[in-house]
Amino acid sequence: MTQPLPPAGQPPDTRWPLAVTTSDRYAPELAQRARQAAAEVGVPYVERTHKQSLASMLADFAHAFIVMEAGAVSLVDDQESLRFSPGLAHLRVKQLDAGVHEDMLLRISGLSEGERVLDCTLGLGADAQVAARLVGPSGALTGLEKSPALYLLARYGLETLPRHPLACPIHVVYADASEYLRTLPNGAFDVVLFDPMFGRPRKSSAAFQALRRHADYAPLTQEMVAEAQRVARRAVVIKGSRYSNDIKKLGLRTEPARPNATVLWARLPGLAVALPPLTEGGEAPT
Ligand SMILES: C[S@@+](CC[C@H](N)C(=O)[O-])C[C@H]1O[C@@H](n2cnc3c(N)ncnc32)[C@H](O)[C@@H]1O
Repeated sequence: MTQPLPPAGQPPDTRWPLAVTTSDRYAPELAQRARQAAAEVGVPYVERTHKQSLASMLADFAHAFIVMEAGAVSLVDDQESLRFSPGLAHLRVKQLDAGVHEDMLLRISGLSEGERVLDCTLGLGADAQVAARLVGPSGALTGLEKSPALYLLARYGLETLPRHPLACPIHVVYADASEYLRTLPNGAFDVVLFDPMFGRPRKSSAAFQALRRHADYAPLTQEMVAEAQRVARRAVVIKGSRYSNDIKKLGLRTEPARPNATVLWARLPGLAVALPPLTEGGEAPT
């Protein structure tokens, strides 16, 4: 978050961009979790006294707070308080449970039982929750988030949700996707997902507006897509907006979509598709 310059003659705004605190009912285990969360992203933990208002803490100490409560996590700034919830993922997962297989993520990615997924743009974790359900308990899902506020909200928020018995756990990592991809060996995941911020329509849910204020806007580049293809064994899936032509600007072809679809998708082959087929003994032919 960038801090605006103060008007001439006024002292500079010395508040931190982000800090972590607890609800005003002090509990040692909550304070311990908040301290650990703050250390993970290198921001201060601020102890909250009984009945101390968040408004005063925002005025004095930080532009935004991650607030740890018993069974809940919120991101609070001077505009609103966003409590982590499964959001639309709840409905999407319920549809999958009911045997309805129309979710676009499933249609485009073809995710199946036991696959390993890398979600490079975790955000509020909705697509990750759906992907975790699609790959099931024998699959694996790692979600990367570069924004410290959204990382903490998703990492600790996902922990507050009941574990779906037919989903794999979601492993959340505070990382920049382009740096993280470079550390991975070829074919480390079956499918790599991207849903970057670029070109988002202005009108969106309250949760998405909060995400918009705290998200990282680093553009998806052709280099990142190429790295993702090296890391993905089966496919790279990219979600973009029709209005800003995000995917076409990357020189990629979008999948066929309904004329009124606001979200467009692209799907690229991963490493396995380019490799020669294995012989019967399981070895690549020489
Ligand atoms: C549009 S949101 C993703 C929403 C997500 N698919 C969901 O279902 O909730 C994009 C997210 O990716 C994050 N992001 C953008 N660039 C990133 C990068 N290079 N590495 C990691 N996270 C990134 C942003 O901070 C933002 O939270």
